[in-house]
Amino acid sequence: MKKKDFLTLGDFSSEEITSLLETAIKLKTDAKSGEYSPYLAGKILAMIFEKASTRTRISFEVGMKQLGGDAIFLNGNDLQLGRGETIADTARVLSRYVDGIMIRTFAHSKVEELAQFASVPVINGLTDLHHPAQVLADLLTILEHKGRLQGLKACYIGDGNNMAHSLIEGAAKVGMDISLACPEGYEPDQAILQNAVIAAKSYGSKIEIVRKPKEAIADADVVITDVWASMGQENEQQERQKLFKPYQVNSELCQLAKPDYIFLHCLPAHRGEEVTVEIIDGPHSVVFDEAENRLHAQKAILLALMK
Ligand code: CP
Ligand code: NVA
Repeated sequence: MKKKDFLTLGDFSSEEITSLLETAIKLKTDAKSGEYSPYLAGKILAMIFEKASTRTRISFEVGMKQLGGDAIFLNGNDLQLGRGETIADTARVLSRYVDGIMIRTFAHSKVEELAQFASVPVINGLTDLHHPAQVLADLLTILEHKGRLQGLKACYIGDGNNMAHSLIEGAAKVGMDISLACPEGYEPDQAILQNAVIAAKSYGSKIEIVRKPKEAIADADVVITDVWASMGQENEQQERQKLFKPYQVNSELCQLAKPDYIFLHCLPAHRGEEVTVEIIDGPHSVVFDEAENRLHAQKAILLALMK
């Protein structure tokens, strides 16, 4: 890959994303037959978390170990970073000890600054604006279940958040149409959207933002949602619950999708809020394949950047 870092899917070409997916499939097949090649023997990944995590933390750590390397978990508050040491100095110091840095934080600009000053690869493990490692796993999951990405129609119902941003960027590059239904005032970031719309055009896919969930889900092959209040928005939870109620993914809404649609959610989920039990625990749901695929997709990212 041309880039040193993995910060957003928008940074990568269609060919690079396809190649990451191919590597992920190979690594998954190898792992299923008990074959773990130590491609990253002796390499260490530092993982900085300024927000909670189950999947990201464990899948990156397990991924590094399966690749013959190791990972160090760092709680942002326990670092001098939490006491005001600059991001630039943190990046330069960590680069002297480790071979890669994964970070989950709030402001996306913090990850960009870390990447700018680190001499080792930096991986975005979620910011307020993007969640690219998750969406790479989502694309892998869709590809496995549908056999292709190009020409499919995905929909995303809910908040125009980090997941929505990475999904539109990813969909654009793989030629998958995506229709997003978001409440007024909760649409995706305009600049991210505009760039993705331009990319989508050149790869022959379509991105649209609509108001009504029924419009977005019509004939969809893939139905996606996410929490109504993301990490850092806890104080907006109650207000959002009322406002997002018409955006719940439930049986009535899903009748409008294709009969063989699949349901994705990055997890953690709030059953009874953004999605009902019948859907997330029902026959169309592939959320645990999706969670598993974090491991395989991220191993492909680690290899591409650190090998
Ligand atoms: N989907 C996801 O990123 O999960 P975690 O917050 O548990 O890492
Ligand atoms: N949008 C959610 C995703 C969690 C994996 C959040 O940022 O909290």
